[in-house]
Amino acid sequence: DWNAGNVIAEQVERIRAQVGSARVISALSGGVDSAVSTALVHAAVGDQLTAVFVDHGLLRKGEREQVEQDYVASTGVHLITVDAEDVFLGHLAGVTDPEQKRKIIGREFIRAFERVQRELVDEARAEGGEVKFLVQGTLYPDVVESGGGAGTANIKSHHNVGGLPEDLDFELIEPLRALFKDEVRAIGRELGIPEAIVGRQPFPGPGLGIRIVGEVTRDRLETLREADAIARAELTAAGLDQEIWQCPVVLLADVRSVGVQGDGRTYGHPIVLRPVSSEDAMTADWTRVPYDVLARISNRITNQVPEVNRVVLDVTSKPPGTIEWE
Ligand code: XMP
Repeated sequence: DWNAGNVIAEQVERIRAQVGSARVISALSGGVDSAVSTALVHAAVGDQLTAVFVDHGLLRKGEREQVEQDYVASTGVHLITVDAEDVFLGHLAGVTDPEQKRKIIGREFIRAFERVQRELVDEARAEGGEVKFLVQGTLYPDVVESGGGAGTANIKSHHNVGGLPEDLDFELIEPLRALFKDEVRAIGRELGIPEAIVGRQPFPGPGLGIRIVGEVTRDRLETLREADAIARAELTAAGLDQEIWQCPVVLLADVRSVGVQGDGRTYGHPIVLRPVSSEDAMTADWTRVPYDVLARISNRITNQVPEVNRVVLDVTSKPPGTIEWE
């Protein structure tokens, strides 16, 4: 029988044998896979591991705090956070094309991560040690999707670690390579990672950057972050987290419509709710969220987020629509 405790014990032993006394680096994205793979490696080698979290300014409300406080408190992982919001937003200024946004975010993510990597490598060398290993949260479906075998570690290049610096020679540690998502969650729970992280729904690496249709700016991110937090809170309160695979909340930043809020006429932006049910994100159906829950989300967003005067529901399946709008 499959048992999380046994898998952890086996992996801990295997990782210890692989790593010896070398140092290890891991990139935390805030998602489930990197959170669990990092905690697993930490359970094996303790402070030989340094985790790196790049805050690109495209995170949802509370995500950074969740990693810096709750995750660190529950795992004891040594964490370095990189403040890269200004850099990312600088490069995203004036960019509206979705693929262009993805490229920029992916490139800057790797740059930010590499800077820290180099510092850690130099630091270790100065102390006579060596950083030899990099943790990746590759799951079994990722391995299958990319054809399996060698050279598949970087398939999530845009949101995991991706193309490694050529002059740094790392070996990969991929402790989740044989596992499915539900097994990874079970291991995360067994390791004591908070449910808010382990039970988290998928969130794209480019973050809120691809949920603003139009240019990404600080103000727009703030607007979307507030609306997204309200939608998430209400869906969770309504007990819909199991039924909903994920619910992108999208700001149509280049669209305006007339509304009436408070004392007068407004000319604000629409927010799109995109709740979907899915097994694997390859296909999806729009979730029939109860009307009263939709009403609460709509009322709260239009009352509490001044820039938004309309909330609309996406009732498109995938195909033909993708889950994300960009
Ligand atoms: P689509 O929009 O293609 O999304 O139906 C399918 C799943 O993939 C996620 N997604 C991404 N994840 N980087 C990621 O890490 C990306 O660029 C990206 N684009 C989409 C999406 O949230 C959904 O779960």
